[in-house]
Amino acid sequence: MKIAVLPGDGIGPEIISQAVKVLNALGESFEMETAPVGGAGYEAHGHPLPEGTLKLALEADAVLFGAVGDWKYDTLDRPLRPEQAILGLRKNLNLFANLRPAILYPELAGASTLKPEVVSGLDILIVRELTGDIYFGQPRGVRVCPDGPFMGSREGFDTMRYSEPEIRRIAHVAFQAAQKRGKRLTSVDKANVLETFQFWKDIVTEVAKEYPDVALDHMYVDNAAMQLVRAPKKFDVIVTGNMFGDILSDAAAMLTGSIGMLPSASLDANNKGLYEPSHGSAPDIAGKGIANPLATILSAAMMLRYSLNRAEQADRVEAAVKKVLAQGLRTSDIYEEGTTRVGTEEMGNAVVKALA
Ligand code: IPM
Ligand code: MN
Repeated sequence: MKIAVLPGDGIGPEIISQAVKVLNALGESFEMETAPVGGAGYEAHGHPLPEGTLKLALEADAVLFGAVGDWKYDTLDRPLRPEQAILGLRKNLNLFANLRPAILYPELAGASTLKPEVVSGLDILIVRELTGDIYFGQPRGVRVCPDGPFMGSREGFDTMRYSEPEIRRIAHVAFQAAQKRGKRLTSVDKANVLETFQFWKDIVTEVAKEYPDVALDHMYVDNAAMQLVRAPKKFDVIVTGNMFGDILSDAAAMLTGSIGMLPSASLDANNKGLYEPSHGSAPDIAGKGIANPLATILSAAMMLRYSLNRAEQADRVEAAVKKVLAQGLRTSDIYEEGTTRVGTEEMGNAVVKALA
């Protein structure tokens, strides 16, 4: 099994090295190869997704990804910005299914900004479509407005579109995930306004006939945002498009108190995947040794489960994370009075120790 390790920018290298340490402690013989991506790719090869990095990602069985981005690249042309690396990997590897779990560990109930009774026991899964929608739809750009009251002025434009096969395949992923959990699926759309999402709703409703054991409901995205902060435990699995999924998954992540705890998996049709923490590169704390490595370590656990067929090892890693939380170890983002504040490296070492 070959793993492409792409640390990226900001805190990426620090958190990735903790996850690599945990993988190495499992007693398996994974082949791991590291390559630069994002701003680091730009520095090394003049491109956020250098050819060699893409080639490595394509030939590996799984990709372990840190984070990309730094303010210092904000002035580069869009195709050279770090974010293009992750968008390019998603598109080139056909990673259309993004799984973003939001789980509140009982030990961290106090870390949420919501009342403990609203969030305790929270366990939801957002299934975000990742290679379509307004993120990738053509045409897009800046042009002279061809019609309407602003005709002749400059305008920026993007295109929202979803084909039937794209909607069907992500719906199947979501229904199957729901079957393995609480058997409830909420499809989030904006069918009251957008043609694309009326079509989305119709196709998801058709696919539902193949999953009679899953209870499907539909919710507009604005209402879904409200319900996520009002009564998040009412959700089991949420399926939605790329754009809405981007926004809702950040909101869902924060319910758990810290985005520093949440892993994610981006899968193709054959369970090859890219695994990354849900948080970004946090350049403000990069190099300080204080970033929380647990989201990345939990992403490695998802990789073991989904792409490397090592469910038992995934369970071991997840149990080790629970154990260090129970021991009271906390990085700054989840620190509370009465717990023990540790750095990135110490947290990684504690997880390794807890594996034994
Ligand atoms: C995410 C990020 C990316 C996205 C950015 C970095 C392109 O916000 O993974 O959620 O918008 O998908
Ligand atoms: Mn996002």
